[in-house]
Amino acid sequence: MSPQAQTKTDLDRKSIPGVDRLTIVANRLPVRRVEQGGRKRWQRSPGGLVSAVAPFVERCHGSWVGWPGYPEKEGPALKPFTHEDISIRPVPLSQDELDTFYYGFSNATLWPLYHDAIRPPVFRRSWWRAYVHVNRRYAQAAARAVEPGDTVWIHDYQLQLVPSMLRELVPKLRIGFFLHIPFPPEEIFARLPWRTQIIEGLLGSDLIGFQTKLGAQNFSRAARRFSAARGSDRQLDFSGRPIRVGPYPISIDVKHYEQLAASPEIIKRAEGLRDQMGRNRRVILGVDRLDYTKGIDLRLRAFRDVLERGRLSVRDCVFNQIAVPSREQVEQYQELRRNVEEEVGRINGEFSEPGLPAVHYHRRNLPVEDLMAFYLAADVLVITPLRDGMNLVAKEYVASRLDNTGVLVLSEFAGAAHELRSALLVNPYDIDGMASTLESAVRLSDRDVTRRMQAMRRVVKRHDVFKWADSFITELTR
Ligand code: G6P
Repeated sequence: MSPQAQTKTDLDRKSIPGVDRLTIVANRLPVRRVEQGGRKRWQRSPGGLVSAVAPFVERCHGSWVGWPGYPEKEGPALKPFTHEDISIRPVPLSQDELDTFYYGFSNATLWPLYHDAIRPPVFRRSWWRAYVHVNRRYAQAAARAVEPGDTVWIHDYQLQLVPSMLRELVPKLRIGFFLHIPFPPEEIFARLPWRTQIIEGLLGSDLIGFQTKLGAQNFSRAARRFSAARGSDRQLDFSGRPIRVGPYPISIDVKHYEQLAASPEIIKRAEGLRDQMGRNRRVILGVDRLDYTKGIDLRLRAFRDVLERGRLSVRDCVFNQIAVPSREQVEQYQELRRNVEEEVGRINGEFSEPGLPAVHYHRRNLPVEDLMAFYLAADVLVITPLRDGMNLVAKEYVASRLDNTGVLVLSEFAGAAHELRSALLVNPYDIDGMASTLESAVRLSDRDVTRRMQAMRRVVKRHDVFKWADSFITELTR
């Protein structure tokens, strides 16, 4: 999502009663260092969180605390600076801190644990110590940016100790926390040796938001079991303070995606893709970070099944998988990549015909314009995570289908499935079920396709990312 699409009108719309200054604390800064004409400069990062939250921060000349995106030694030492009306407060991380805090505790302990323990979470005491240490550094950087009475919004699983650490440093703050990934069922969370510390860290907030009602319930139950917190699923009491808990499903900048989908340049690119892949073939698309939670390997397995049984052939359809490289230092990610690439090779080896590959595999980070061209070219989008906080790709596809065509096959274990009820919902563990759903998706009648897409577009248009940020901040400042 490009920041340029943020218009002045959007900014004017955002008045935040009761918020003089807003500070965001997130693992990454909203800017990244890019090279242009041989010179390095800062540029607003793409992505939903940044374009949703930045207008609020700009409006109240707030700050953003986060990691600049490179190991400390590989870039300049940074002091706070201002970028497009946002005061940027960098938290530098050394290579060792990245290995232990980011790749280790955040992405090899918490990430698998919070995603149903799809891969065994690794518990290492040295990683936990690094997590505590780095969370404290974020809290200290935030404390330097705020004044008593300010509002602070902390984001995601990398920073769950920051709410209570920050409250200790600056007692009179309004603190909100939003978890972008699922909060696991109590029995899975129970395995974490530091479960009480994590819960108490989060309970430093005044409001804790989750993607779904289930996530909010899981948290409240875990809080009652593993800490001294008491109360209901919606409100807990801890250390003499009330803490509100609730679902705040995140969304996308719908208008921005609609504008891109209407752009003649992107429509032309999509036409080009259709020509290249064969006008008579149905185009099936998968778009994911190359992450084992996304179910890419099982989805390909289901596609192989469809071809093996002759229910569809490479003359009927072609599968495109866009896989964005991610966290490549973590072993489970390397293993997943090997599995996916082996499966792609196997399918192509067995089923491709000259000029008709069964699967196109694109392992790269695509600019949003190219991604949009794929969305427009795809008859079917297949999003089948084994567990996913929300999945914004599903919403982006729906937003881009201006003519109400296109079929969405969606895992029932994605947060988005709670809202996009008119998708073809699948259990991604059920290979037979996925195979028959893929076949149905390709064969769905035009009438059915339109009816389903219309219903999903209504849902997505009603609740965009600005509404999401607005409703969270409004509740926080109530
Ligand atoms: C998920 C997390 C985010 C994270 C993103 C990309 O969406 O919820 O917090 O930023 O993945 O992962 P990365 O490790 O590259 O920041």
